[in-house]
Amino acid sequence: MPISSHIISSGSYLPEKIMTNNDLAEIVDTSDEWIFKRSGIKSRHIAADKQSTSDMAICAARNAIADAGINASDVDGIIVATTTPDQTFPSVAVSVQAALGVPTCIAFDVQAVCTGFVYGLAVADNFIKARQLKRVLVIGAEKMSSILDWSDRTTCVLFGDGAGAVILEARESAKGQGILSTHLYADGNMRDMLYTNGGVSTTGTSGHIVMQGREVFKHAVNLMAEAVNAALDANNITADEIDWLVPHQANLRIIESTAKKLSMPMERVIVTVQHHGNTSAASIPLAFDEARKSGKIKDGELVLFEALGGGLTWGSALVRV
Ligand code: UT7
Repeated sequence: MPISSHIISSGSYLPEKIMTNNDLAEIVDTSDEWIFKRSGIKSRHIAADKQSTSDMAICAARNAIADAGINASDVDGIIVATTTPDQTFPSVAVSVQAALGVPTCIAFDVQAVCTGFVYGLAVADNFIKARQLKRVLVIGAEKMSSILDWSDRTTCVLFGDGAGAVILEARESAKGQGILSTHLYADGNMRDMLYTNGGVSTTGTSGHIVMQGREVFKHAVNLMAEAVNAALDANNITADEIDWLVPHQANLRIIESTAKKLSMPMERVIVTVQHHGNTSAASIPLAFDEARKSGKIKDGELVLFEALGGGLTWGSALVRV
């Protein structure tokens, strides 16, 4: 029997502090009306000053481990997708490993910005299919508030902090179970559309997010539709066979446009951007966990993840959960 990767559990963590659009209107020249109309966002969670990305990743991971009913020592791989690591090195993944007490294992971070979780899922899936790992913790964790320019109204109103996690397990199963396909893409020619204006080997600081919002928007709808169609074609299915679309939560208008391209009713699309904002690599696992725990997404259903982020990077993953 072939080996496939099954999502056996999920977990998430959101910082206590909630920042509303009205709170932001006290800092920059903006309004609840503008932010909601252009992005669908009403509020976002913001980490405490001393709270790091690994603190949030560890909470989400503990949650996923409890949900799976396993011990931390049953995990043999940890992959953290993040753009906002605690330190340049070591990775957030090894901090998670140490905090959970996972014995020597494979642990590393993946950097593909908002597409990071899909990249992490694909890497973990390939390790499992190659029979090198049996149980992998895949986490998306971000402290986006730490790389925002809080005087730039074009970006600071869009992002939030948080972490989400899933555990993938290797199982011998009939075709059509677990992760069915992953499609990853990058085009570095578009790296100037969304970036930080700093880095350790250039300015010596992490820098702040700079985004050509309108340009990114335009590409997001087309490229995510491309990634979604690649998943449908590879699995020889049509969009109406998908139970749930779990898109990267950047902007409600982008989500609606992608759903429209697929002729998917919004009732089958998971939307959390209104209360999470854009949490980059954490957005998909946060949305997935919320939808699973609320009973929307049920075992056995067909779920499509899709994302686009700085790089540009984009991709999709089709999973029978
Ligand atoms: O996660 C990675 C991928 N990222 C994305 O997918 C983000 C993609 N882009 C977007 O979501 C949207 O482009 C934004 C939400 C960022 C912006 O929406 P938009 O409809 O593209 O607005 P815009 O950038 O064209 O700006 C329209 C106007 C401008 O004023 P003028 O030039 O028309 O006078 C901006 O200066 O809105 C102004 N503006 C604001 N006004 C109030 C920009 N930011 C704000 C603000 N409050 N926060």
